[in-house]
Amino acid sequence: MVMNDRVLVVGGTRGTGLLITRLLLQRGYRVRVLARDPARAASRLDSAVDVIAGDITKPDTLVPAVQGTSHIIFTAGVHSGRIARERLVKITDYQGVLNTLMAARDAGLGGRFLYMNSIGVTTPSMTARLLNFLKRNTLVWRRHVEDEIRASGLDYTIIRVGFLLNRPSGQRTVDVSQGALPLAPRYRIARADVAEAFVEALPHPRASRATFEVIWGKGHRHQDWSVLLGRLKPDG
Ligand SMILES: NC(=O)c1ccc[n+]([C@@H]2O[C@H](COP(=O)([O-])OP(=O)(O)OC[C@H]3O[C@@H](n4cnc5c(N)ncnc54)[C@H](OP(=O)(O)O)[C@@H]3O)[C@@H](O)[C@H]2O)c1
Repeated sequence: MVMNDRVLVVGGTRGTGLLITRLLLQRGYRVRVLARDPARAASRLDSAVDVIAGDITKPDTLVPAVQGTSHIIFTAGVHSGRIARERLVKITDYQGVLNTLMAARDAGLGGRFLYMNSIGVTTPSMTARLLNFLKRNTLVWRRHVEDEIRASGLDYTIIRVGFLLNRPSGQRTVDVSQGALPLAPRYRIARADVAEAFVEALPHPRASRATFEVIWGKGHRHQDWSVLLGRLKPDG
C-alpha cells in the first residue's frame, strides 16, 4: 500500500535523486532523504520530505536513516562530471553502497533496494576507459557493487543509465534492455526519464531481482512504463 510506504532516497539532495523524491511525493509515498548537509537539503526539498542527517561513508549515521523505511532508492555517488581519486571513489561508490546495504539488512528492510548504476560496467569501451581514468575505476567498483547487491538477500532492482541530461521527461522514447551496453556518448537519457524509471520500477513485480538499462531511443514516447517493464526477466 503506497500511502504507508516510506522510501529512503540516498542521493535525494541533487540531480536524479532530487527528481525521484518529487515524483515519489506526487505518487503518495512518504519520503525520507539522507543528507550530509540537512539545512541545505531542506531548502531544496518539499517540506513534506523527512530530511535526515547522514553520510554513506559513516555507517553509524545510516542506522537511524534506514529505521522504519519500506524501500531504499540509492542514487548517491561521487559528484558527476568531476575528477576523483580512487580513495574517494572506493569509499563512496563502493563502500558507501555496502554500508547502506548492511544497515538495510540489519534493520530488516522488507521492501526493495533500488540502485542507480551506469551502463558500461561490464562492457569495455574507450569512453569507459576515459571515465575510469578521470573518476578512478568508478565503473570497476560499481560492477562489484552489483554483485554485492545480488548476493545481499534483499529484494532489489538495478537500473543502469546512459549519459544524463537535464531535460524534461516524456519527450523521447525510452529503450529498456537487459544486455550489456557499452558506455558511449550516443547512449543518453534525461534525468527526469530516469526518475520515472525508478518510481515505476519500485512497485513493479517484473523489476524484482532484475537488472536493466535505460537510454533514449528514436522518436517520441509511445509505450508506457508498464509495457516497458513488463518484459523484464529476473537476473539469472
Ligand atoms: N552523469 C552521468 O552521466 C551519469 C551516468 C550514469 C550514472 N551516473 C551516476 O548516477 C548517480 C546520480 O547522478 P546525478 O548526476 O543525477 O547526481 P549528482 O548530482 O552527482 O548527486 C549525487 C548525490 O550523491 C550524494 N552523495 C555523494 N556522496 C555522498 C555521501 N558520502 N553521503 C551521502 N550522500 C552522498 C550527493 O549529496 P550532496 O548533496 O551532499 O553532495 C548527491 O545527492 C550518481 O551516482 C552518478 O555517478 C551518472
